Amino acid sequence: MSRQSLSKAHKKITELSWEPTFATPAKRFGTDYTFDKAPKKDPLKQILRSYFPMEEEKDNRVFGAMDGAIRGNMFRQVQERWMEWQKLFLSIIPFPEISAARAMPMAIDAVPNPEVHNGLAVQMIDEVRHSTIQMNLKRLYMNHYIDPAGFDITEKAFSNNYAGTIGRQFGEGFITGDAITAANIYLTVVAETAFTNTLFVAMPSEAAANGDYLLPTVFHSVQSDESRHISNGYSILLMALADEENRLLLERDLRYAWWNNHCVVDAAIGTFIEYGSKDRRKDRESYAEMWRRWIYDDYYRSYLIPLEKYGLNIPHDLVEEAWNRIYNKHYVHRVAQFFATGWPVNYWRIDPMTDEDFEWFESKYPAGTRSSAGGGRSITGCGTPAGTSRSRSRTSATSTRTAAGPAWCRA
Ligand SMILES: [Fe+2]
Ligand SMILES: [Fe+2]
Repeated sequence: MSRQSLSKAHKKITELSWEPTFATPAKRFGTDYTFDKAPKKDPLKQILRSYFPMEEEKDNRVFGAMDGAIRGNMFRQVQERWMEWQKLFLSIIPFPEISAARAMPMAIDAVPNPEVHNGLAVQMIDEVRHSTIQMNLKRLYMNHYIDPAGFDITEKAFSNNYAGTIGRQFGEGFITGDAITAANIYLTVVAETAFTNTLFVAMPSEAAANGDYLLPTVFHSVQSDESRHISNGYSILLMALADEENRLLLERDLRYAWWNNHCVVDAAIGTFIEYGSKDRRKDRESYAEMWRRWIYDDYYRSYLIPLEKYGLNIPHDLVEEAWNRIYNKHYVHRVAQFFATGWPVNYWRIDPMTDEDFEWFESKYPAGTRSSAGGGRSITGCGTPAGTSRSRSRTSATSTRTAAGPAWCRA
């Protein structure tokens, strides 16, 4: 090719070439929020290098407490009533934790701020840690507590009982719908900033009062990560406030997130604290008093109300109604009645036994031996609720796998 035609070809290629472009990431998690005017800085930067040694130190303390609980024979001294409620609580709580981990990519996808992405990525690691150390705690109870029935089936039972279903919709709320509504307002701005106080601080102190000094170590280790998560939530909230179009969305989401959190967290934690405890100290705070301090004063008055200076309408009516329900309408007491009434069917397995399960059961417990077994591992349990569709022997077999059996017998 001649020099002239070479230069012609080069010119043609130059004309044909287009501006360099980069792949545009697909938006997987949509949001109605806009962040056009928001500053792309994180006011609360986190340093990764200091993160891992700190978490390692916290994990080591948790493992130390686990070892101490085994050596100190904690599992023979802890209150039975408290532990019975823990079977329900620990079946639910790892799910919201892992849902929080799954919510982080949603938030990263929706918020155009690389500095905040760093904090959210670190939070994702935290939430995986929370879920796994809580699962590990449950495993330890299962291996060492005098009545382990129920801890062994929590993951299976969780999806099949009404109390678990309430917890499930709570955790799924972190990862469903609009990415900012779910992963920021519902999860971080309300659940983590307000309600982890009663969940991970007030409840562990009640556990300690009932002889369980392991759970507080695990849950305080969890709670000490929350200050960073709260900062993530606040950073995104401030970004959202920079665009006026987001104001109505924020007001809508604060109402939804507040009310749902109140209904679920106050129901569960209120019941565990008031009715799972056998502690009768005179100076013991009621759940209502804890709520007034941790949520009304520390969250509503010092976090939510100051947002009004940005022109945001705060759901005062819903906060007051939540307090009214707890203080005047006996919300916790009514829920405790509801939980206690349903406890016999709480861990009811609705999935039929497979033929394989049935054969295993028949070989392990031949027909003549079933009613003679006693204690927490009773084969016949304490009877079968009427109206189930399974055959009698299969239903009885299923009841051996429920936490409900032994607890129901004792009641
Ligand atoms: Fe968490
Ligand atoms: Fe968190």
